Amino acid sequence: MDSRTTPDAEPEPWSEADFAPIVIFLREKIGITLEPHRMGLLQARLRSRLQQKGFPSFTKFNERVLKTDPNGPGMQLLIDLSTVNHTAFFREPAHFTFLTERLGPAVRDLSNGPVRIWSAGCSTGQEPFSMAMVLSEMIPNLSPQRVEIWASDLSLEVLKAAARAIYNARDVQVISPSRLRRFFLRGRGPRDGSYRVVPEIRDLVRFRHLDLRQPNWPLPTDFHAILCRNVSIYFADDERILLLERLAQHVRPGGWLVLGNGEILPVVPSSLRKYSPSIYRKEA
Ligand SMILES: C[S@@+](CC[C@H](N)C(=O)[O-])C[C@H]1O[C@@H](n2cnc3c(N)ncnc32)[C@H](O)[C@@H]1O
Repeated sequence: MDSRTTPDAEPEPWSEADFAPIVIFLREKIGITLEPHRMGLLQARLRSRLQQKGFPSFTKFNERVLKTDPNGPGMQLLIDLSTVNHTAFFREPAHFTFLTERLGPAVRDLSNGPVRIWSAGCSTGQEPFSMAMVLSEMIPNLSPQRVEIWASDLSLEVLKAAARAIYNARDVQVISPSRLRRFFLRGRGPRDGSYRVVPEIRDLVRFRHLDLRQPNWPLPTDFHAILCRNVSIYFADDERILLLERLAQHVRPGGWLVLGNGEILPVVPSSLRKYSPSIYRKEA
């Protein structure tokens, strides 16, 4: 008898059908909806990582992680593999110019305490570090007494990379030679080809692990500006509205909320006024 047709043959342990509950879990519990082309990629990457960790099948992963340990390391692995982390230094550069011009005077003036900026969904750190660099160019000897840049993400893997602040030649190719000299340390020997953000810039940024869907954000509620760019595009409309309302509550009156270019809001929270297609101001 052909072994492939043996009735009691082991079922294929990494099948599409066994992967389906993971896709549903991601959508319903984490809010990540996978586009069809990313589904196959995630299935292959997850399978390979789970095999390395000794899991025999997706079903066992479902039983041991999704059902019984949803806050453990297995869950974090799933989140790290399924989030879209594309970012770049000085991405959508007009936002940095705008914020520097608007916030520069308050950063110079120490009498009202530090200016607070939050990069919500910071990925591997290029966004908060770009903000720190443009402010440093405007204000010499910038210190955390003058500006606090908070940066958060759902994925621990990208946050660890952000805190290391080491980038490769492709990451920094958009950076001008003068900024590269001033804000990066070039790797030598075995680290040749890598670039690390200088401590003066790193010290301005504080990283936090935070899920924007969770109800409590242990963060200040008086940010001068929040950048939440290219994050809510993965949220369902009702979740985006809720997210923007909650972000607005963390902006001080007169402060700014900056979204990614081309992110269209289904509804503008009542406390915000549209300033430009991607920039909103909280009523003073
Ligand atoms: C496409 S990146 C954008 C990075 C940066 N803001 C930019 O515009 O270049 C989106 C980031 O949002 C993060 N993210 C997605 N859902 C999140 C959530 N619920 N809470 C916090 N971060 C989230 C992802 O992990 C990813 O790093």
